[in-house]
Amino acid sequence: MARKFFVGGNFKMNGTKESIKSIVKGLNEAQLDSNVEVVIAPPALYLQLARDELTKAGVEVAAQNVYDKPNGAYTGEISVSQLKDLDVHWTILGHSERRTLLKETDEVVASKTKFAVDGGVSVIWCCGESLEEREAGKTVEVVERQLAAVAAKVSAGDWSKIVIAYEPIWAIGTGKVATVQQAQEVHEAIRKWLRANVGEAVADETRILYGGSVNGKNCKDLAKEKDIDGFLVGGASLKPEFVDIINSNL
Ligand code: G3H
Repeated sequence: MARKFFVGGNFKMNGTKESIKSIVKGLNEAQLDSNVEVVIAPPALYLQLARDELTKAGVEVAAQNVYDKPNGAYTGEISVSQLKDLDVHWTILGHSERRTLLKETDEVVASKTKFAVDGGVSVIWCCGESLEEREAGKTVEVVERQLAAVAAKVSAGDWSKIVIAYEPIWAIGTGKVATVQQAQEVHEAIRKWLRANVGEAVADETRILYGGSVNGKNCKDLAKEKDIDGFLVGGASLKPEFVDIINSNL
């Protein structure tokens, strides 16, 4: 089965009512490759606004995080059922900024992933190594450890609701994109791990995105690699060049 190219835009903690409206207007009016699934993730405060303003077919909205408990006394958190109440059916989980700054462990990320997919919210699940880990030759080991934690929680069937985003931490927001070889090598290792530990179909069908300083210029070469099935874009998703990234294959 061919894997549909997927491009996510992670706005992180950026934007205002006006700028989010303007980004969404840009997407509504753009010519987008119809073979690409697009998901934008504004800050939680603007999910409703983005949802209301979006008219473009094939573009969905995602949260940047969700809690692994039903509605209740969890100050500051957002639930899976609240996302669905806003017609939001995607969330990012395990972004390195949450793993490092908010101290989310592999297990917390895995638990949130299971809770989201069980509740009917699909997950852009992030993994990736630090510069120190890469320099120590531990890239694949780190990514496999992160994968093993989530695979221990979810069933083989759940993987159809998970898109993997490989994001080397040293490439995020630094302008230092991984080379196509570096990215393809890790994507291939992830697929190999899925094949050995989850199953053939999951390995063949799961989309693996690359994230880290993707822009309108470097996206085309990365998109040509056989195991790169799309991108998770940070900074450039706030700019008009996000459309060029969506249209990488045209
Ligand atoms: O979620 C997106 C990634 O962290 C990449 O961010 O494109 O600004 O490097 P960036």
